Amino acid sequence: MAILIKTPAEIAKMRISGIALRQVHDALAPHVVVGASTMDLEEIAVAKIAELGAKAAFKGYHGYPSALCTSINEEVVHGMPNAKRVLKDGDVLSIDCGVIIDGFYSDAAVTYAVGTASAQTQKLLDVTKASLEAAIEQCQVGGRLFDISATVQEMCEAAGFGVVREFVGHGIGRSMHEDPQVPNFGTRGKGQRLKAGMVLAIEPMINAGGPEVKVLKDGWTAVTIDGSYSAHFEHTVAITKDGPLVLTR
Ligand code: MF3
Ligand code: CO
Repeated sequence: MAILIKTPAEIAKMRISGIALRQVHDALAPHVVVGASTMDLEEIAVAKIAELGAKAAFKGYHGYPSALCTSINEEVVHGMPNAKRVLKDGDVLSIDCGVIIDGFYSDAAVTYAVGTASAQTQKLLDVTKASLEAAIEQCQVGGRLFDISATVQEMCEAAGFGVVREFVGHGIGRSMHEDPQVPNFGTRGKGQRLKAGMVLAIEPMINAGGPEVKVLKDGWTAVTIDGSYSAHFEHTVAITKDGPLVLTR
């Protein structure tokens, strides 16, 4: 399928969706504490999404049961909120959420250290987040898609981390997943030319150990094969003639 180019009016609508999603993440942040369950976070998100007049994008997507993905420690992505899953000191929690407003999707993820973080955990979070920010800077008209990918790969591998291959970022708009796929690995200078009006969900998924992952028997939860911790940060970003516009900031 061709990459769908958004008009400035459509990007303005996506910005409204993105701001609402940021408000959901901001509502969750103070509740990421030792003793909270991931279902507590789900309930806060569901209430906030309703208050904002938005719709949860993930719930019902290919049968996914929740508004959030809450992935702890060796869980990479698509962990499901669960009242029995209680956060403890030293955990790493990724919260991924998507919303729809006026027909437009936004998608964003943040990873938190719960309580005290080990030096290795803090480095994993810092490098993954920095790789997303550097990748966003690559969202320039005339650049190439894999400039984004290579930026993430180079920064994270230089730090000794494993770059997940099985899950990738994506175009986003009136659907959650549009073309193109946005891998977190690739060759600088290759890939499609970036054009004004493209909107991309960029989402490095980075493991403290090796890059390999597997999906658990629940059909959703992806975990690292070696049990190492994993981090995930995501923004929805519009490419404009004036540079990258982060819709979920
Ligand atoms: N950020 C993820 C993605 O882009 C979230 C989808 S999870 C699902 O694919 F639950 F909706 F499937
Ligand atoms: Co996404």
